[in-house]
Formats: sequence, structure tokens, C-alpha cells
Amino acid sequence: MARPDALVIDATASFADFSTPLLAWYDRHHRHLPWRTPPAETKHGVRPDPYRVWLSEIMLQQTTVGAVKRHYLAFLDAWPTVGALAAAETEDVMRAWAGLGYYSRARNLKKCAETIAHDHAGRFPDTEAGLKSLPGIGDYTAAAIAAIAFNRSAAVVDGNVERVVTRLAAMETPLPQAKPLIREIVATALPADRPGDFAQAMMDLGATICTPRKPACVLCPIAEGCAARSSGTAERFPLKAAKPDKPLRRGAAFIAMREDGAVLLRKRPPHGLLGGMSEVPTSGWTARVDGVADVSAAPFPADWRSCGTIRHVFTHFALELAIFKAEVTPNANGGGWWSKPATLPHEALPSVMKKAIEAAIPGATSKS
Ligand code: ADE
Repeated sequence: MARPDALVIDATASFADFSTPLLAWYDRHHRHLPWRTPPAETKHGVRPDPYRVWLSEIMLQQTTVGAVKRHYLAFLDAWPTVGALAAAETEDVMRAWAGLGYYSRARNLKKCAETIAHDHAGRFPDTEAGLKSLPGIGDYTAAAIAAIAFNRSAAVVDGNVERVVTRLAAMETPLPQAKPLIREIVATALPADRPGDFAQAMMDLGATICTPRKPACVLCPIAEGCAARSSGTAERFPLKAAKPDKPLRRGAAFIAMREDGAVLLRKRPPHGLLGGMSEVPTSGWTARVDGVADVSAAPFPADWRSCGTIRHVFTHFALELAIFKAEVTPNANGGGWWSKPATLPHEALPSVMKKAIEAAIPGATSKS
């Protein structure tokens, strides 16, 4: 069996020369994007304005090319230079950003423009390290700007590039562990004269040919050297490591039911998890790793009987709730309101609460 370090050497050696067919393809089939300087010009030393490259790369983080185009052009129209953006009102920038999401990116964009205007005499640093020292510019963005705007030999690796490279090498190492090897393969393949075009060619190949589903291998300029293509397994790559299990929290939920079938509900605090939604009384499970999972957390003394447990998975943790039910007298009071069988299905109950009630009273939350 090949050792993992042997794979590094083999993989980088055999994939070093795909830049020539890739760039020939890019020359003919590159996408026309408003922030892009076409290869016919870059080949003659024309470089795009770093401000435009930076603006587009920040907008393209976690947003599609289609969604970015309109905002990009509106920004350029309003603020044609980094100095103009630095002098803009933050509120105007936030308004122009609306629709692109992740609003902290817009705040960092403004901060970065101010830093360049005030501390760098209005000029972008021209190295990866210099770019990385600026607000909102991480490894990927620094490499992309260095390569595209300054033609620096920077290895630009985004999700598209990861897909292309893991397929080329039929890489059995899953992501994220494969990242250093992918970077090494890209760095080895970088053409000294055209690193900026190479970066954009890889992005275009990933976006238009080497797509996640049904890649168009018959049209691919580098299919000949592609290990996944030759074994017909392109769609298998990239492999992804199983995500680590989420932490488990425990708690208890209490279904108090009156003689008329009404269930006691209360409202969650306005902010935080499930803010403002309705719930049955519970132990404080959101705040603790191991909440109280027995009747000691009940809202009032009663003949609480176990109805088993339910599980629910939230974004950051899994919750196991022990469910207890009691049939109670009308004057029992847990500081909420009583919801009758006719109204219960229409309450603002999140799924976890519906599950809890259903464990105690099957069918109680379904709309008839
Ligand atoms: N995605 C991120 N950066 C890009 C770029 N410069 N061109 C096309 N797609 C991109």
C-alpha cells in the first residue's frame, strides 16, 4: 500500500503540466465577467484594477456570480475608487450591499477601504502577506487578489478548485484533510507567466465543466490527465470526512394536561434559540451541557409520569428531552396559558416542542 507521503510526491509530479491545455481552453472559452480583464489583454501585460478585483472577490465569498454582477456594477457606479468608498457613508454602503447577505462582510469592506485610503496612500498591497493584513481579507482572498490583480504566483484554492484537483488525482483523502495536498498540486502546476489567468481558468473550469453533478468530461480540456475521468468516477470526488458529532444536551419537558385536554404552554424569551416561540415547560436545556432531565425541574408538583425521550438536532447541538406528562386540576399554574385541543395545532410551536407533545399525546399537534 502506498504511504500517504508517497502519494504527495506522485500526485504533484504527475499533475504538474495541466496548465498548458487549461490556459488554451481559457483563452477561447473564458467567461465574460464585469470584473475580469480578458486573456487577450492580460497576455500583453494589462492588469485589472486591484480595487475591482478586491470588490468582486469580497462579494463572491459565499454568493453566486449571478447575484454579484448587479451589486458589483452598482458599487462601481457609486464608488469608482477605493478612496471614494472610504469616504462613503457606512449606511449607504450597507444599503448598496443589501441582498448579498453576511453583513459583516460589508462592514469589513468599508473598514478595509478606509485602511487602504489612510494607511496605504490609496494603493493596495501587492503581496499575499500584505493583503492578508487588511480587514476582511483571509488566505483565499489574499491569494486571489495577488494572483489576479498582481500576477503573483499564488495558489488560489476555492471549492471549485478543490473539486477539479481531487478529480484530477482521484484523491482518496477526504476534505478537509486533503487541503494541503490540493494546494501543493496547484502550486506545482502554476505557470510562471500567467498565474492570474490560471486561477480564473480553474474557477471557470469548476463552474462550467467540472461541476458537482454530471460534469461535462467530454468537453474538459484536461480530461486526458484526469484519473477520475479515466475510471469514470468523477462524481465521487471530492470525498468529504464525516462531520464530528454534535454535542449532546439533555433536559426535560413537561406536558401538563387538563381534564378538557388543554395543554399548558408558555412563551420563550424574545432573543436566543427559538426566540419568541411557544413551548411546554422545560428545564433550562439551552444553557447547560447536561440539563436536569428528571421531575425535579417540573413547573409544579403533580403525578408526573415518564413518556420516554425524544431527540432533536439543532445547528450546534443535539438535544435529548425526557418527556413527562401529568393530568392536572384546572387551577394548576405554570405561568403560561392553556391551549385547548382545537387551538394547539395552531400555536407557534417549533418542531422540537411538537415532538415533545406528540410523545405524550399522540396526534395532539397535527392539523385535522
Ligand atoms: N469566484 C470567486 N472569484 C471569482 C472570479 N474572480 N471569477 C469567477 N468566479 C469567481
